[in-house]
Amino acid sequence: MDPVSLIPTPDAIPVHWFWLHLLLTVTTFLHFLAMNIMLGTGFIAFAAPFWRGDDVMPLNTHIAKTLPYSIAFTINLGVAPLLFLQVLYGQFFYTSSILMGVYWLSIVGILIVSYYAAYVYRLVDDRGGMGRLYISAAVLLLLAVSLLFSNNVSIMQMPEVWSNYFSDRTGWLLNFSDPALLPRYLHFIASAVAMGGLAIALYFEIRKRRGAADGEEWIKLGCKWFTVATIINFGFGFWFLGALPEAAYDPGTLAGKIFFILIVGSVATIIPSVAYAQTGRIIPATVWALITVLLMTLSRDILRLTYLKPYFSLPDLPYIPQYSPFILFLLAFLGGIYLVGWMLKTVWNAKEVA
Ligand code: HEM
Repeated sequence: MDPVSLIPTPDAIPVHWFWLHLLLTVTTFLHFLAMNIMLGTGFIAFAAPFWRGDDVMPLNTHIAKTLPYSIAFTINLGVAPLLFLQVLYGQFFYTSSILMGVYWLSIVGILIVSYYAAYVYRLVDDRGGMGRLYISAAVLLLLAVSLLFSNNVSIMQMPEVWSNYFSDRTGWLLNFSDPALLPRYLHFIASAVAMGGLAIALYFEIRKRRGAADGEEWIKLGCKWFTVATIINFGFGFWFLGALPEAAYDPGTLAGKIFFILIVGSVATIIPSVAYAQTGRIIPATVWALITVLLMTLSRDILRLTYLKPYFSLPDLPYIPQYSPFILFLLAFLGGIYLVGWMLKTVWNAKEVA
C-alpha cells in the first residue's frame, strides 16, 4: 500500500510556518529542560540509595520537595509544543497518536498515578523505607511515559509503518521495527539523568552562594552523575546515529549538512561542560550543557524533516494569513513567562524564609 494515500490533508496555517516552527523548537526545548530536571532528579533519588544507602536521604528530601513542581512544569511546558506540533505536523501526529491510541490515552492515567506517588514520597517520613516504593513507582511510570512519547514520534515520522494498522486495529502499535527507537529513547533518558545531576549541583551551588553550608557533598554528587551519564550517553548517541537512515547525515543535502554540523556542535559543547563540572565550576558547566540541549533539540527538528521528506515539506502547507490571533498569543505567552518567573521567585524566597 502506498503510505501517501494514508496521510490526511493538512489544514491551512494562519502564519508563515517559520514562526510556528520557531515556537515549536523553543517550547520543545523548555519542555525538555523541565523533563530532564524531573526525570533526572527523580531517577537519582531512586537509584542513589542503592549504593549510598541512607546517607543520601538529606538530598532526597530536597528532591522530594521539588519533584511535584518539576512534574507540573514538564506537563504544562508539554502543552505548548503539542499545540505547535499539531498545527505543523497534525496530519502525521494525529495519525500516529491514533495508531497507538490505547497507550496514548493511558498517558493521562499514568501521569496522575506518578504525580500521586511523587506527592506521597514528599509527605512520607521514612524515605529510606516505604518511601523507596513511591519514588520507584513515580520514576518507573515517568520512564514509561517517555517511551510512549518516543514511540509516537517514531510512528509519526514513518508513514511507511502505518499500514501495520490493518493487521492489528486495536491501537496497541509499538514501533520496534524502527531500529532508532530504542537508542533514541535511551539517549533521552541518559540525557535526563545527566541534566538531573547538573540541576542538583546548580541548586546547591545557588544555595551555597546565598550562605547555605550543607551543599558541597551534593554538588560533587550531582557533577558525578552528570559526568558518568554523559559519558554513557556518548555510547547511546553513536548507537542512535548508526541506527538512523543514511539520508539523515547525507552531506549531499542541506538537511544532512545542518544535521551533521549540529551533532558535531553538540559534542563540542558538551566537552567543556563536563570539564567545568569536573572542576566544580557549575555555572559555566550549566551554560554549555544548555547550549548542547538546544543544539540537540534543533537536530531533532532537522531529523524529522529528513524522515518526512518523501511525503512532505513545510512549504507544502496551505497558508492563509491571519496574524492577529498569533500576536495575541505571543502577548499572552510573554505575560505567562513573566508570571511563571515571578511565581518561581516567590516560591524560592518563601522556601528560604522557611
Ligand atoms: C511528565 C511526563 C513526560 C515525560 C517524561 C515526557 C518525555 C518526553 C520525551 C522523552 C520526549 C521526546 C520523544 C522523542 O523525540 O523521542 C517528549 C516529547 C514531547 N512531549 Fe513530553 N513528556 C512528558 C509529558 C508531556 C505532556 C503531558 C505533554 C503534552 C501535554 C508532552 C508533550 C510533548 C511533545 C509535544 C513532544 C514532541 C515534541 C516534538 O517532537 O517537537 N509531554 N516528551
